[in-house]
Amino acid sequence: MKQLSFLETEKPVQKQEWGTFKDSLRAPIHNWFTYPAGFSYKAVESSFLTYNIRQGQTIYDPFMGSGTTNLVAKKSAINSYGVEAHPFVFRITRTKMNWEINRDEIVHAIQEIEAQVRQRQRNFNGADSQDVLEKEFPELVLKCYENNTLLDLLFIRNAVNEGSFSQPVKDIFFVGLTSILRQVSTAATGWPYIAPNKQKTSSLNKNALHEFVRQVKKMVGDIRNTVDEANPNYKDSFHKIFNADSRHTQNLIPNSSIDHVFTSPPYLNNFDYADRTRLELYFWGEAKNWGEISNNIRTKLITSATTQISRDDPRYNLSEDLQEACPDVFDFLKKSISQLSEIRLTRGGKKSYDHLVSGYFNDMFQVISEVYRVLKTDTRAVFVLGDSAPYGVHIPTDDLIGKIGLGAGFADYRIDVLRERGGKWKDNPLRHDVLLRESIVTLIKA
Ligand SMILES: C[S@@+](CC[C@H](N)C(=O)[O-])C[C@H]1O[C@@H](n2cnc3c(N)ncnc32)[C@H](O)[C@@H]1O
Repeated sequence: MKQLSFLETEKPVQKQEWGTFKDSLRAPIHNWFTYPAGFSYKAVESSFLTYNIRQGQTIYDPFMGSGTTNLVAKKSAINSYGVEAHPFVFRITRTKMNWEINRDEIVHAIQEIEAQVRQRQRNFNGADSQDVLEKEFPELVLKCYENNTLLDLLFIRNAVNEGSFSQPVKDIFFVGLTSILRQVSTAATGWPYIAPNKQKTSSLNKNALHEFVRQVKKMVGDIRNTVDEANPNYKDSFHKIFNADSRHTQNLIPNSSIDHVFTSPPYLNNFDYADRTRLELYFWGEAKNWGEISNNIRTKLITSATTQISRDDPRYNLSEDLQEACPDVFDFLKKSISQLSEIRLTRGGKKSYDHLVSGYFNDMFQVISEVYRVLKTDTRAVFVLGDSAPYGVHIPTDDLIGKIGLGAGFADYRIDVLRERGGKWKDNPLRHDVLLRESIVTLIKA
């Protein structure tokens, strides 16, 4: 009898059950912070169902972001590991994963915050708000709010920071205040781009304290409802999440300990995750300028935006490890990169797409090798990702990631196209006609 290949026995992805990112915007806890997740929580549920991932087993998301995969796991009493390199996003996820928090303590603490803020409002006594605000915030923040709203946000922030609350309660307030920041802004702060010079009239005269208290109370209700709906054994599951780098997880995740990986890496599309949280970082005082965002965040993430690149950094040569493990991928990338190096010299912006591509695949090779190490045998790693065509040079990311998987030790891979999409390269002068796509790449560990 003919032996079936892995792919012939492979279960098809149930794409129709994957939903869209909008599902997560409506779902309790998932919707505490709007983040470009790349998939809906329904996609995670569907993958767990397809591969029969059950209570007591362990999943891992190496690009945890706002925690969609880990939240779904916890609700089903499935153990989880998660790694996220962006410290601000990690704090949000840590908060979303803490359902053990004492809800009465939050309700009590929110009354204290309200009283504190009202006291601060009374004491302010007509001092020059412009002066106070200019000392506290970079220009971007000043431009996004009316003075009285920003002053209230500052009072809330300081009451949270200075109050003697437990760390979990401070985290809840941190997420609560963060999640109303864009709502009460009078500038066009829709996700992901901020346009401080464009007015959003729907936010005029919004009361920040009122919105904050409402949001925190909603969050308390969300935790209660989620706990009620969750598999009652969720309390026995463990969730180990790290603010760390998924290229280096040797000390965090044991060999052969994971039953399934479900993740969405940064796409190769020049999306700067650090910059997207600029308003929030500036508001909380976690960075004051571009340089601090680079030092504190950009340098910690895998390469996926030209804003992370400095041209003399040797990391942007294709790595020898990649060459040894995946010679075909290496040769293909080498040609594309040399094309990009030539084209960039003819373009005004001289974008470092050549280094973007080499950095991205060097980094992804490291992450995929680590994913291979931690998976048990006969398991799957599901990557949701998009391809791209910088300066019109098509980089078929899904196919290359599949092949890199083979080089890292996986037995086979399959690609399911999730959706086709228009080019996102705003500054692409070639107006290429390559149809880009989002794909599901399933790596099979035998
Ligand atoms: C597409 S997002 C994932 C979103 C996630 N699925 C969610 O539910 O929010 C990719 C994430 O990878 C993170 N990231 C980038 N480089 C990383 C690294 N070296 N280690 C861990 N996470 C990293 C980014 O900060 C970003 O949050």
